[in-house]
Amino acid sequence: MFPISVRIKLLLPVIILISLTVSFFSYAKPTGEALYQQCVACHGVKGEGLPALNAPAIAGQDTAYLSRQLLNFSSGIRDKSEQAKSMALIAKALTKAEVDELARYLQAMAVTQIDSSNSITGSLKNGARYYQAKCGACHGGQAQGNAVFNAPRLANQNSQYLLQQMRDFVVGDRGYAQGDKYGRQMAMMANTTKGQELTDILFYIAKQSSEHKVK
Ligand code: HEC
Ligand code: HEC
Repeated sequence: MFPISVRIKLLLPVIILISLTVSFFSYAKPTGEALYQQCVACHGVKGEGLPALNAPAIAGQDTAYLSRQLLNFSSGIRDKSEQAKSMALIAKALTKAEVDELARYLQAMAVTQIDSSNSITGSLKNGARYYQAKCGACHGGQAQGNAVFNAPRLANQNSQYLLQQMRDFVVGDRGYAQGDKYGRQMAMMANTTKGQELTDILFYIAKQSSEHKVK
């Protein structure tokens, strides 16, 4: 038998098809809750994400960040990596009004506490130091995010997802498209760290798991 993560990945086309079918049959002006049903298979009932699919936690994330990402997926700004491609298929089926409704609904959802520090090990002391020097100014001292700088919450997020995004920024799968102003800022920062230092930073972020919510 395949391990669970591989089995879920083999089911991916089916999950995408079901999600798109749910959206096709939804009502004329569906609520955020109704719209979210097409996302549950990958992002979880509580918006806590599904590490096996590298689907991130999205509950309690900032509204402006969420809608910007959904529009980036559908407009071709964020559809280069394998995982982003499957997400782009879903995002393309959403209208602008549905994107806004979903973003509002998701921000109001409670953040699920995720301690993924067992999926990554590093030095907390070094991680804290590097994080505060390189990331904290934009993402907040406890990685809670800062809407003023358009920087999303990183705490209570799956570490492997964060690592994947850092790689995407570095190899040019994210943050290099024309018009991706905020992605560019982050891509510049992603290029300033790697290896053990990045592992330590991600370990520090993983340890900041409490109910952080962007106000
Ligand atoms: C087939 C699985 C799947 C479905 C269904 C799905 N997503 Fe995703 N979603 C993903 C994956 C995988 C990613 C990570 C993409 C990447 O690595 O760039 C993602 C990323 C996102 C992000 C970016 C989060 C961040 O921190 O940048 C948002 C927002 C999002 N999804 C919202 C939704 C919404 C809303 C729906 C329902 C309308 C939905 N997704 C349905 C798999 C899915
Ligand atoms: C100049 C401000 C700034 C600094 C400093 C910064 N970031 Fe970011 N970061 C951003 C912005 C803005 C975004 C959102 C990009 C977008 O909209 O696509 C972001 C996005 C991210 C994401 C994607 C999150 C997701 O949910 O997909 C990760 C991971 C990340 N940053 C990690 C870091 C780390 C680690 C550091 C320190 C090495 C750092 N950032 C430093 C501004 C910054």
